[in-house]
Amino acid sequence: MKHLFEKHLLEHFLKAPSDPARISQLLSLTGEACEPLRAAAYDCMKQNVGEDVYFRGLVEVTNRCGLNCLYCGIRRDNSVERYTLSEDDICGAAKVCAEMGFGSLVLQSGELRSDKYVDFICRVVERIKRETKNERLPMGLGITLSLGVFSQGQFQRMFDAGAHRYLLRIETSNEQLFGQIHPADQSLGERLDAIAMLQQVGFQTGTGVMIGLPGQTLAMLAQDVLMFKKLDIDMVGMGPFLPSRNTPMGENPILSASKRLQLGLNMIAVTRLVCGDINIASTTALEGLDPNGRQKGLLYGANVAMPNLTPPENRVNYKLYDDKPVMQPVDSAVASIEKIGRKVAINKFGDSRHFASRFARR
Ligand code: 5AD
Repeated sequence: MKHLFEKHLLEHFLKAPSDPARISQLLSLTGEACEPLRAAAYDCMKQNVGEDVYFRGLVEVTNRCGLNCLYCGIRRDNSVERYTLSEDDICGAAKVCAEMGFGSLVLQSGELRSDKYVDFICRVVERIKRETKNERLPMGLGITLSLGVFSQGQFQRMFDAGAHRYLLRIETSNEQLFGQIHPADQSLGERLDAIAMLQQVGFQTGTGVMIGLPGQTLAMLAQDVLMFKKLDIDMVGMGPFLPSRNTPMGENPILSASKRLQLGLNMIAVTRLVCGDINIASTTALEGLDPNGRQKGLLYGANVAMPNLTPPENRVNYKLYDDKPVMQPVDSAVASIEKIGRKVAINKFGDSRHFASRFARR
């Protein structure tokens, strides 16, 4: 029988899906040996959240950033051309998103913690909700924010304005590694506190990590997955680390591209098996390593894709890493999903099923 060892490993893991040593073993699989893991994750996705793929139009609101993360191409100290989209540009992209039938939008940006920026975001969110209402989307587009850390009061204002999901990556659950990739003015604790605030406010809450960071071990990645579970997270967006040459981490030795890709896919699969009914995004960074990376992510148990709707002239300046792919036009993004036998859900928020059960438990 094929893949006997891996099937055995999976069987034991599924009996106690919180054993870090077994998670590490699953993460280390390569080549053909990944197939049982992939198939089990796909099955788990099918049973828990179905096979539909939810699209969120991604709008990169500004590449201005107050933080100086050592890996990121738009870090504060980098000299890149900075832009901030106008309210009209953002609402224009939102309307395109709604017209295409993608029920949700993600507003993402660098981290700017001022009240003035929160005012701007609230105005934009209210306007998008108002202007994208139609008979197919009676509540307007669903809005996810991915804008970094704020105070609980600021999060509350954005929620009250009409956003209902928030993504805040922890980057790694390992305090020491976090310290190695961030300047001293940032801490993992601050991000974990912010996640608790988001849950308190009532957001569907997502997080994520980078995969294949210099100094990151399989044991650390296993702990990342267990952290998603412990945080009772509703959504995960994570992807391979892609060096950005003009950053302090641009030249660090790292795993080969194919190893980082496989590790990224295995992380999706294991997260699906451990967390069950959450939403998992197949991220842009996967595509940075493989032109079919996004499709592969969906075959390993992801159920969300985020086609980029940022105006192309700004998109080139939202460069978190060097190999950021030029995204395919949206209609071919749909076609590539249909090619793997999946369907893009139309005019739906695509909320996390996990959120509904977490909310019922409150
Ligand atoms: N490689 C991969 N992902 C990156 N991000 C930032 N820089 C990089 C990089 N060099 C990710 C971080 C951040 C998100 C917006 O993009 O996880 O939270």
